[in-house]
Amino acid sequence: MGDHFEIRDQDALGRIGELTVPRAGVTVETPALMPVINPHVRTIEPSRMQSAFGAEILITNSYVFYGSDDYREEALERGLHDVLEFDGVIVTDSGSFQLAEYGEIDVTTPEILEFQRDIGSDVGTPVDVPTPPDVDRERAEDELATTQDRLAVAEGVDTGEMLVNAPVQGSTYPDLRESAGRHADATDLDVFPVGAVVPLMNDYRYGDVVDVVAGAKRGLGRDAPVHLFGAGHPMMFALAVAMGCDLFDSAAYALYARDDRYLTVRGTEQLDDLDYFPCSCPVCADHTPAELRELGDREREELLAEHNLHVTFREMRTVKQALRAGNLLELVETRARAHPAMLDGYRALLDHADLLEREDSASKGAFFYLSGESARRPEVVRHHDRLDRLALSPGDEVLLTEGGPSDRYDESWNVRAPFGPFPRDLSETYPLTAEVPDRMDAEGYRAAAEGVARLAAANPETEFTLAHRGWPEAALAAVPERVDVVDLSG
Ligand code: GUN
Ligand code: ZN
Repeated sequence: MGDHFEIRDQDALGRIGELTVPRAGVTVETPALMPVINPHVRTIEPSRMQSAFGAEILITNSYVFYGSDDYREEALERGLHDVLEFDGVIVTDSGSFQLAEYGEIDVTTPEILEFQRDIGSDVGTPVDVPTPPDVDRERAEDELATTQDRLAVAEGVDTGEMLVNAPVQGSTYPDLRESAGRHADATDLDVFPVGAVVPLMNDYRYGDVVDVVAGAKRGLGRDAPVHLFGAGHPMMFALAVAMGCDLFDSAAYALYARDDRYLTVRGTEQLDDLDYFPCSCPVCADHTPAELRELGDREREELLAEHNLHVTFREMRTVKQALRAGNLLELVETRARAHPAMLDGYRALLDHADLLEREDSASKGAFFYLSGESARRPEVVRHHDRLDRLALSPGDEVLLTEGGPSDRYDESWNVRAPFGPFPRDLSETYPLTAEVPDRMDAEGYRAAAEGVARLAAANPETEFTLAHRGWPEAALAAVPERVDVVDLSG
């Protein structure tokens, strides 16, 4: 792997990074959104991508140029940046997506990589095989082997300064994704797209998307820049960034506009169903939904595409700011309320506690407890793991209390949902300074009770009393028998 990527800041598995693109002579800050340009359609002109939307990086499909004599000659003569009138970074895909859609394409990896190099692409892509979800294991393994052969071929092509993608495939088998990630990381290729997730996203299978990305991340390791191929809906950016994805491409802004669909961070709306625009981008500030419906097809499509792109860039900035501030998981938790499938995605992320625990930074601004899922955040997991290692004196009587007198005891600790017990001198340290609602939920109490159980198990010779304020029976069931329990709320 090249050394083109540096991580500047991290929250959960998400990071602010810097991708150096030698051929363009620039660095791109990640997470970055790459609008997809279809050279035949150009719903929004590439030149406006920079001036009106702040795009630093675009993606287009080199196979579209390669497959047409006219386009091909023009691209070879003038170069891609000139043809598209865009002087930022241009990434090119290889036609693999056409392969997935139509079953066949007429180009090899050396041919398309050399073509991408010759038209001036900044980041090229070999011909990977995008294996769909849920295929049998044998097919997933065979096609992954083909992709890996092509990565080896790509390593042998003279690509000059162009960076080269090493797509990670493996269908819906997390262990195949992991070994694909490990293999890709060991090549000397540069950027690592997680492939063939579009069908999962189209079916709202966000839990499966998370598992697939987690598999790839486990194999790739921390320093690899990861592109989530085909993920352009702003609804899932917070989740995907929190899983460690750095690059996103959006064709959605244009494809949805063609079908009169309006993107929001809470999902997709049909223009016909809207009475108000819940947005203040230039399009929504200047028009009502009724006015947009009155326009001709072409103008309406353009304006919808512009709104869709504005909301997409805005969400990426929102995600980056949350990451910087250390509250990315709170944003994920908020976005998860938009759709049950998003909630499933967030729960799947929390299922990868070991991966999060390894990388999430130990100290941030403030921990906001926002729902039962907060009780499963890495900060809570980490605190519980720590309780296993906190040694108390054998024979001592220790009070774990939410308040109330402690003079009868050898030692007195605080206890608080969702963390459970902690020594008093830690009460001003992250995450024990958490803001939690007065009306705690079952998951929070349960997590606190599990914390008590962990501490008790680690100190079998110490006597514990838990003095709580109205914890429910269901939570107290997790506290071992030998802990005395007192309800202070009477
Ligand atoms: N675009 C969306 N998914 C894929 C993929 O798996 N491979 C390539 N090359 N392009 C894609
Ligand atoms: Zn808008």
